[in-house]
Amino acid sequence: VAARRGYHEVVHDHFNNPGNVGSLDKEDKSVGSALVGKASCGDVIKLQVKVGEDGTIQDAKFKTFGCGSAIASSSYATEMIIGQNITEASKITNSDISSHLKLPPVKIHCSVLAEEAIQAAIADYKTKNSSEASALRGTP
Ligand code: FES
Ligand code: FES
Repeated sequence: VAARRGYHEVVHDHFNNPGNVGSLDKEDKSVGSALVGKASCGDVIKLQVKVGEDGTIQDAKFKTFGCGSAIASSSYATEMIIGQNITEASKITNSDISSHLKLPPVKIHCSVLAEEAIQAAIADYKTKNSSEASALRGTP
C-alpha cells in the first residue's frame, strides 16, 4: 500500500470481488434508481445513485442478475461515478467500461447495459427532483 502511486496500480477484481453491491432507499428524494435489461440474454442491472445538493454522486449501489461481465461492468461503473458530478457521470460510455475490464467482443453489450443503467439512474434522479422544483414554483 505504501508503494501505491497510481490508482490503477491497484487492480481490483471486479469479476470475483465486485464492490458496491446493495441497495439505497428508493423513497429518498436524493436517490435515482434504474432497472435495465437485455432481452436477448435476460440479464438485468439495478443501479442506484445518491446525489448531493451540489450534484455530486455521493454513493452508488447495484444488484445485477446476470453474467459475470455485467456484474463486473456494474461494479466498475459504480466505482467510477462515486465522487463525480452527474453531468460528468452521464458522459461515461460503455467503451470506457469495456476497455478497462478488457471485455471480449461478445461481452460488449454487458458494458452497454451498465452505461444505460448509469444514464437511467441519473435521469430518474432528475425527474424526481424537477417535479419537486416545479411544484415549488407552482407550475403544474
Ligand atoms: Fe481499475 Fe477497479 S480495476 S478501478
Ligand atoms: Fe447479457 Fe452479459 S451476457 S449482460
